[in-house]
Amino acid sequence: MLLKISNKIDQLINSMKLFDVYPLNDITIVKAEGSYVWDDTNQKYLDLYGGHAVISIGHTHPHYVKRLEDQLHKVGFYSNSIKIPLQIELAEKLGKVSGKEEYQLFLCNSGAEANENALKLASFYNGRKKIITFKKGFHGRTSLAVAVTDNPNIVAPVNQTDNVIFLPFNDEQSLENAFAQNDISSVIVEGIQGVGGINVASNAFLQKIRSLCDQYNAVFIADSVQCGYGRSGKFYAHDYSGVNADIYTMAKGMGNGFPVGAISISPKIQPKHFMLGTTFGGNHLACAAAMAVLEIIEQDELMKNAEVVGNYLITALKKLPHIKEVRGVGLMIGIELPEELKMVKRNLLYNHKIFTGEAKPNVIRLLPALNISTVEADIFLAALTKELNDI
Ligand SMILES: Cc1ncc(COP(=O)(O)O)c(C=O)c1O
Repeated sequence: MLLKISNKIDQLINSMKLFDVYPLNDITIVKAEGSYVWDDTNQKYLDLYGGHAVISIGHTHPHYVKRLEDQLHKVGFYSNSIKIPLQIELAEKLGKVSGKEEYQLFLCNSGAEANENALKLASFYNGRKKIITFKKGFHGRTSLAVAVTDNPNIVAPVNQTDNVIFLPFNDEQSLENAFAQNDISSVIVEGIQGVGGINVASNAFLQKIRSLCDQYNAVFIADSVQCGYGRSGKFYAHDYSGVNADIYTMAKGMGNGFPVGAISISPKIQPKHFMLGTTFGGNHLACAAAMAVLEIIEQDELMKNAEVVGNYLITALKKLPHIKEVRGVGLMIGIELPEELKMVKRNLLYNHKIFTGEAKPNVIRLLPALNISTVEADIFLAALTKELNDI
């Protein structure tokens, strides 16, 4: 009893050392492999969350581990003041796997940073200030990225700006009106809104953004930080619309856990020295991690797997009782439950040992590794079926 109390006090003191910005699950992960993680009591969990869509090729993938280890023995870091051939290799590989071979690469460290650079680059390109963004969109927490994010709670007064126009998602008419009335620099849009609850952009909507950006010489920024990198079954979720964006922003799945982000830039936008820059972006280790990910995506045909297992899951989920709606494409799936079933996500974790993501108001988000198997999908389906049937 006394030991328990003193453990609790220790925990409390330790927790006060960290700036408390997240509610935490009381779980400590000490080991991970493929689509599984283990806690410090050796309890195994199925991971359908991937640390927020980050684990793309599975935890501790042997090729990834070897690539990083080998690189660390050569050179871990040097700045962008010297040539880094790995960056060119990465740009070529990304161009090939994404099908945008004529695009140029700028490397950074996170999703917010990628969006920040994209919005800035667009403004450099056409000299304008106004940005169109959408309701329920999430683009990160740095100054412009958070200003174009639809969540007033995370926008500090210093981030507020009149340069941002929020429009309803998938509404072509309001887009046309906004372009007609403002001098638009760029439009930033997720192909599938993640934090906003898995809302898929319609093809017609993305095509309309393309044609208006062409008409007004504005820049189409495809935020692919969460929905990109093969997760939808295509490299960029926006590819389903058949039109190209001017800038694709990416991070999360790009490094399978190593912090790396990037923007892929159409040849219509030309660089000038010092318009963008970074200390850590594109360092040797980050490039090695990103190369390993692309090599496995290509070699193991993970986009195909995302499509096949994604369809398998979505079809099965649509047959289950009590679910309000199943949304998504490939391995980016939202399961909207009625308010009275909000304990299901927690039960999946604590009763069935399955990690899933969430979105407001009551959406279970599946963001597994792209090489998840149907066997693992079945484990989840059985657990969810049991939860729903037990109601
Ligand atoms: C669509 C989207 N854009 C940008 C970001 C920000 O990425 P990061 O947390 O790496 O800055 C996120 C993070 O969840 C995201 O989902």
